[in-house]
Amino acid sequence: MKRMLLCLLLSGGSMLMADGDPAMTQIDRGRQWFQHSRKGVACVACHALEGQGFAVGPDLTKLASVIGPRGLATTIQMTATAYVQEFQLLGGRKFPGIEKEKTGELVEVFDLGRIPAVLLKLKSSDILSRRGTSDWCHPPTAAQYKAEELADIIAYLKFVATGRPKEVSATEIR
Ligand code: HEC
Repeated sequence: MKRMLLCLLLSGGSMLMADGDPAMTQIDRGRQWFQHSRKGVACVACHALEGQGFAVGPDLTKLASVIGPRGLATTIQMTATAYVQEFQLLGGRKFPGIEKEKTGELVEVFDLGRIPAVLLKLKSSDILSRRGTSDWCHPPTAAQYKAEELADIIAYLKFVATGRPKEVSATEIR
C-alpha cells in the first residue's frame, strides 16, 4: 500500500508527448518519450543514451542488445529491483540508493530518494547497512504507459543498442 502510494506520487502529471505526428518514425517517437516524457519522470533523468541524460541507473544498451521487446517491457515496468538497495548511514539517515563506484574506502552512491538523484561521496565506514528494498519504485512502472508508447520506447532502445531500426508492435509486448 505504502509502495503503491509512493509510486502514484512519483508518477506525477501526464502531459502527452509524441502523439500522432505521422512524419515521425517510431524511433523518433521513442526518443521523444525517452527524453521528454512527463509520464512519470523522463528516462533521461536516470539513463544516458546518445549523449543525453544522466547515468544514474544502468547502461541500457547492454540489456537492450540481448533481450526482446517483451522482456524489455517487463523490465521497464519492474516491481523488483536488482541493484537498488536501502542504505542506512551512521546517524540514521535511510534512502534508496544505487552504488556507482567504489575506490578503496570511497563509495559513490546515487540517492534515488531525490529527483534528480544526488551523488553522495561516502566513506565505507559511513554506511551502517545496505539491504535489498521493495520500497523504491522505478518511475515508468507507475506511469501507466500504453502498450503503443512502450513499443515506441523499446524500438528506440533497441535501435540505439543494435544500430538496426526495427518496428516493434504493441501486440509483441502485451
Ligand atoms: C529516477 C531514476 C530513473 C528513471 C526516471 C528511469 N529509470 Fe530505469 N532504472 C533506474 C534504476 C536505478 C535502475 C536499476 C534498478 C534495479 O535495481 O534493478 C533502472 C533500470 C532500468 C532498466 C533495466 C536495466 C538493467 O540492465 O537491468 C531498464 C530497461 C530501464 N531502467 C529503462 C527505463 C526507461 C525506458 C525509463 C523511462 C521511461 C526509465 N528507465 C526511467 C532508474 C531510473
